[in-house]
Amino acid sequence: MAQTSSRKILHVVGARPNFMKVAPVMRAMAARDGRFEQRLVHTGQHYDEAMSQVFFDELGITPPDENLEVGSGSHAAQTAEIMLRFEPVLLGFRPDWLVVVGDVNSTMAATLVAAKLGIRTAHVEAGLRSFDRGMPEEINRLVTDALADLLLTPSPDADENLRREGVPAERIRQVGNVMIDTLAANLERARARQAPRRFGVEPRCYVYVTLHRPSNVDERDSLAAIVACLLDVSRRAPVVFPAHPRTRQRLSDFGLLEALVAGVKLVEPVGYLDSIGLAEAAACVLTDSGGLQEETTFLRVPCLTLRPNTERPVTISQGSNRLTTLARLRADLDEAMKRRESGEVLPCPALWDGKASERIADALLGT
Ligand code: UD1
Repeated sequence: MAQTSSRKILHVVGARPNFMKVAPVMRAMAARDGRFEQRLVHTGQHYDEAMSQVFFDELGITPPDENLEVGSGSHAAQTAEIMLRFEPVLLGFRPDWLVVVGDVNSTMAATLVAAKLGIRTAHVEAGLRSFDRGMPEEINRLVTDALADLLLTPSPDADENLRREGVPAERIRQVGNVMIDTLAANLERARARQAPRRFGVEPRCYVYVTLHRPSNVDERDSLAAIVACLLDVSRRAPVVFPAHPRTRQRLSDFGLLEALVAGVKLVEPVGYLDSIGLAEAAACVLTDSGGLQEETTFLRVPCLTLRPNTERPVTISQGSNRLTTLARLRADLDEAMKRRESGEVLPCPALWDGKASERIADALLGT
């Protein structure tokens, strides 16, 4: 922090889980009185209003300076297209730092371009590992962290993963969790919207479901088993399920849509505030999202993660998250609802305190 010149920062976002991460980082930098000159690039990986614009509106993110409008495609096509379109933008602005967040294709593609041009990259949410290379995000995390110059981590397990991979200590900085910065800053606004009432459910009586991972929704057998399970759950408690476009498409392709909507409140994707509102008032959350595992840990709401692993182990060791399977779901749900009723209160992981973005601004000013 000894230096006084301003830092040129180029932020890149592309997909839904990026937006709540970049918002507090940009705000913290903007509050540093001219110490940062910031630009924002949206790759256009997500483009539906409900998957993108609503987050800019709700979180007050400045409109992107550039939208690369890459859209959907195979992983190779989407990654390549982002790289092609991002390179001239990066060369035009020549930032001191590229800042990328999370683990989506846009994160990895932008980092690859910067590394080849010798432009330094800071990765927010570095070091998370599921140790499952069948997940596209795990590949994105490994590549991004191997190339990035500054690895800004949310929790001690992330530091440990990076050290094990041979990353020198001076590249690792534990700053805490930026998702929690956004959650802490917006919780009152989320509550005021009374999402449960608008979705026609009683607080603490319903299960909030989000599922979109390829491993859960891309195969007919797996998705059919999930549908049967959700219908079973819906006989005991109302189920609110905002469906990702990919999930809705697969339900339709496999002819499962009609059966599901007979018992489950299948709705369009919700914005950030309603998602927080639905999570906080749920009896239990059932998800395969990384973000919701963290948000429920902060909110102390029981969460069941329908995956064989998680890259966010502190949500289990220190939080309210448990891994589940379709075979165990019924029993796990009963146990989760009992935990909810017992009012069990857990401490939050260290540095999940709403100030991670401040520490990121400090870290970049110190470079
Ligand atoms: C991406 C991220 C994932 C993240 C998820 C959150 C990668 C590898 N995956 O997955 O980590 O959890 O975002 O949503 O980056 N689609 C639309 N409208 C949109 C965007 C997508 O209809 O605005 C549909 C398209 O059919 C598209 C499919 O969803 O082909 C998948 O989109 P894509 O961006 O490839 O990956 P996600 O599954 O959204």
